[in-house]
Amino acid sequence: MKLGHFAGAAAILVALFGVYYLLGSHSGGERSGVFSKVAWQRMALPGELSQAHSFLAHNCAACHTAGKGVEASNCIACHANNESLLQRQPTAFHANVGSCVECHTEHRGIDKRPTDMDHLALSRIGFRQLKADHPPGGEDERVRKDLLDWIGQHQPAGHGSEGHSSLTPREAVLNCATCHSNKDRHVKLFGQDCGQCHTTAKWTIPEFRHPSPTSKDCAQCHQAPPSHYMMHFQMISAKVACQPNAKVNQCYLCHQTTSWNDIKGVGWYKHH
Ligand code: HEC
Ligand code: HEC
Ligand code: HEC
Ligand code: HEC
Ligand code: HEC
Ligand code: HEC
Ligand code: HEC
Repeated sequence: MKLGHFAGAAAILVALFGVYYLLGSHSGGERSGVFSKVAWQRMALPGELSQAHSFLAHNCAACHTAGKGVEASNCIACHANNESLLQRQPTAFHANVGSCVECHTEHRGIDKRPTDMDHLALSRIGFRQLKADHPPGGEDERVRKDLLDWIGQHQPAGHGSEGHSSLTPREAVLNCATCHSNKDRHVKLFGQDCGQCHTTAKWTIPEFRHPSPTSKDCAQCHQAPPSHYMMHFQMISAKVACQPNAKVNQCYLCHQTTSWNDIKGVGWYKHH
């Protein structure tokens, strides 16, 4: 009899959890809102919190607002004024972004950092914020300008996804250089529109085959270092390479394609 009661209660619990998870995975937006704070404090965790947030394991409400789910304002309460984040070019956008969970999920276990950069989400959030929070001519003109900077809407019309075959149209509206110009390996020789050639997943381009070492077009794609435009070039570089009459633009007379320190007829050379 007692055992039966227990089994009955367990069955109800199982059923409840079943319903909970159904709601959790199918009702979209306000999933956690179905439950009061007390109710979800008692719920089984969807997964352990990350190392950095594990101290909040008994304080679900630090991130979850009853009835609304995870709100950016909760995150910002603890993370506003993170100087190093706002000063690094690629993450400076945190000053204007009004949503967090797109790139910072949780409950994936103690070993998994809660960050995955999602450029598509970035563009979505940008458009949403431009429409909702910052109507043209509003008080937040500066925020609006910063948003436009990284969405790149100031670029000439027709700039969309044309010539950006490796990007989705939504990604193509991003102005890559606002966040990545410091990483430009081509010192502006290829322009500022990184998305013409690069995807958002990784900087390497598997299809890329470097032109032949016998090419004479090196200078079309490569910029010589500042020292090549000073006395150093005649006095050291040209002598080392035994090419006293070479012009700076004739990279191919002195350089190999393996490494800039691999000098033709000399081998590895590093000046100090
Ligand atoms: C450091 C912040 C943080 C804390 C603390 C936290 N969560 Fe979450 N939780 C999240 C994030 C982020 C998501 C993903 C939300 C999304 O994708 O919309 C999430 C998702 C969930 C979900 C999936 C349904 C939903 O709301 O999206 C459940 C259930 C949940 N959390 C329960 C809990 C419980 C129970 C606790 C306390 C034991 C807790 N959480 C503590 C950040 C947190
Ligand atoms: C009660 C305060 C608090 C809340 C609320 C909180 N965090 Fe944190 N968070 C911390 C602390 C403390 C750390 C660890 C030290 C640090 O990096 O600042 C941390 C770390 C992080 C990290 C770095 C984690 C890593 O392993 O690299 C990210 C990203 C982050 N939080 C994002 C969020 C987001 C997004 C939310 C909202 C869903 C949130 N935090 C809510 C206090 C909080
Ligand atoms: C479009 C994606 C995206 C959105 C949206 C986003 N972040 Fe981030 N966040 C990142 C990336 C990428 C990093 C850099 C992580 C790294 O350097 O490893 C980062 C870093 C952080 C860090 C620093 C972590 C550390 O290691 O010190 C914190 C804190 C943080 N974000 C909080 C937030 C908060 C709060 C929000 C919402 C207001 C938010 N983020 C929105 C992508 C995003
Ligand atoms: C608002 C800022 C922002 C914009 C705009 C932006 N990115 Fe990023 N991107 C980031 C952040 C943040 C990261 C995370 C890594 C980091 O901290 O450098 C990142 C990472 C990357 C990576 C490296 C991925 C990896 O894991 O190695 C590539 C490639 C990249 N972005 C390409 C692009 C391209 C191409 C565009 C334009 C279509 C673009 N990004 C636009 C902020 C931005
Ligand atoms: C005209 C095409 C083109 C444009 C535009 C371009 N790149 Fe590249 N980039 C390349 C090619 C090709 C490579 C070599 C890829 C490889 O070796 O896998 C490369 C390599 C890189 C690498 C090194 C990848 C690695 O890890 O070896 C970085 C970083 C990079 N580009 C950043 C940028 C940034 C930032 C911009 C925009 C300011 C940009 N690129 C614009 C064609 C381009
Ligand atoms: C069509 C454009 C193009 C031409 C022409 C070209 N390169 Fe490159 N080269 C690249 C790109 C793109 C990369 C990869 C990105 C980077 O490292 O700058 C690269 C990489 C290199 C590297 C490797 C740099 C490193 O540190 O890993 C060397 C060395 C190099 N090129 C030398 C040459 C020389 C010498 C010539 C002429 C014989 C030449 N290249 C012609 C586009 C070109
Ligand atoms: C007359 C020969 C000569 C010509 C022409 C020349 N270089 Fe160099 N370059 C050198 C020598 C020698 C070194 C190494 C020692 C030094 O700094 O002088 C060097 C160094 C470099 C380095 C720096 C390597 C490092 O790690 O410090 C780069 C990058 C480079 N050259 C690129 C170019 C490019 C691009 C061109 C063409 C636009 C070019 N060079 C033309 C001889 C030359």
